[in-house]
Amino acid sequence: MKTILNIVGARPNFMKIAPIQHQIEKSDKLTPVLIHTGQHYDEKMSKVFFDELGMPQPDVYLGVGSGTHAVQTASIMVGLEKEMQRIKPDLVLVVGDVNSTVAAAIDAAKLHIPVAHVEAGLRSNDRNMPEEINRVLTDSISNFLFVTEQSGLDNLKGEGIASERVHFVGNVMIDSLVANLQKARQSAILEQLEISAREYCLVTIHRPNNVDNPENLDKILSAFEVLQAQKKIVFPIHPRTRKRLSELGFGDRVARMKNLILLDPIGYLDFMRLMEKAVLVLTDSGGIQEETTYLGVPCLTLRENTERPVTVSVGTNQLIGMDTHKIVSHAQAIMAGETGKGRIPELWDGHAAERIVRILEDKL
Ligand code: UD1
Repeated sequence: MKTILNIVGARPNFMKIAPIQHQIEKSDKLTPVLIHTGQHYDEKMSKVFFDELGMPQPDVYLGVGSGTHAVQTASIMVGLEKEMQRIKPDLVLVVGDVNSTVAAAIDAAKLHIPVAHVEAGLRSNDRNMPEEINRVLTDSISNFLFVTEQSGLDNLKGEGIASERVHFVGNVMIDSLVANLQKARQSAILEQLEISAREYCLVTIHRPNNVDNPENLDKILSAFEVLQAQKKIVFPIHPRTRKRLSELGFGDRVARMKNLILLDPIGYLDFMRLMEKAVLVLTDSGGIQEETTYLGVPCLTLRENTERPVTVSVGTNQLIGMDTHKIVSHAQAIMAGETGKGRIPELWDGHAAERIVRILEDKL
């Protein structure tokens, strides 16, 4: 038996690890150990996802919490190094692009433990984003690079990464969506919020470039002010965004929007349900661009770039930036029915984790 150490830390990691953890549990060659770094720790940012995704309790919980990038990354590295020395895994598996991802990869590489990076090769080419630094560093020291879309293959080739290390396997985040869609359809969130299918926009905003920058946040709120006069807006708010709204003095403006429904962060199944039935989704998240593409729901991404270009070229995503008028005009066009049909990208079929585990069984 080979031991695979699965690392999670932040909300978008949980739905990526869940299908891999489950698939390794079924393997007769591999056995999983799960560590949660505690980068995200609020019940609504973490525990609810473990429960809804049927994840086991982590074998180890480090409880590192929040901090500056250096403090957070270093605390994770110190905690994980000890655990890796104790557990002696045959491989460390990391997902996505958060600080927990890069911290674990550096630890493992320096302990000469092979690293697998799931969701490798994505590039926004914007080094102002902390995630971009995490992606580039993690890929450069990973032994197995599991890729979700063609751009990932192109980027890794361009960076001179040997093709034997690179495997196009599809998208584990979509594995979770496929596995949980029926359950999500039983969620009563629409009834609870007293909203109807296609009668609301769903919004998520949390990127530092959007919410830590008063000018950008102002532009986004101005767009919401116009749009909520036409359709309800459902806004489950990330803790970082809630904090910034009040620090920057925008709390009153949000409270005055009568058709904006502000919610605490919500669970996975409720969120999938809200996404599937929205007339459109406005977001700066990475994963939501992919999930809306799979669901065929129009998505407007409030960023200047995306590391997931297949969601634009094949899927339902449009990259529109932060300009108020542009946000409003694109949203109004979609509400008026101007929606192009998207397709589901290659290998986003619910079986990515099976492909990953098969490769690890063969090669380890
Ligand atoms: C992190 C990831 C980002 C991902 C996002 C999803 C990095 C660099 N960023 O950003 O890529 O899209 O998660 O949510 O890893 N907080 C809480 N409770 C929590 C967690 C955070 O209140 O459970 C607050 C804290 O005030 C903290 C702030 O949110 O300072 C930011 O948390 P942090 O983990 O540093 O980054 P995110 O913005 O969540």
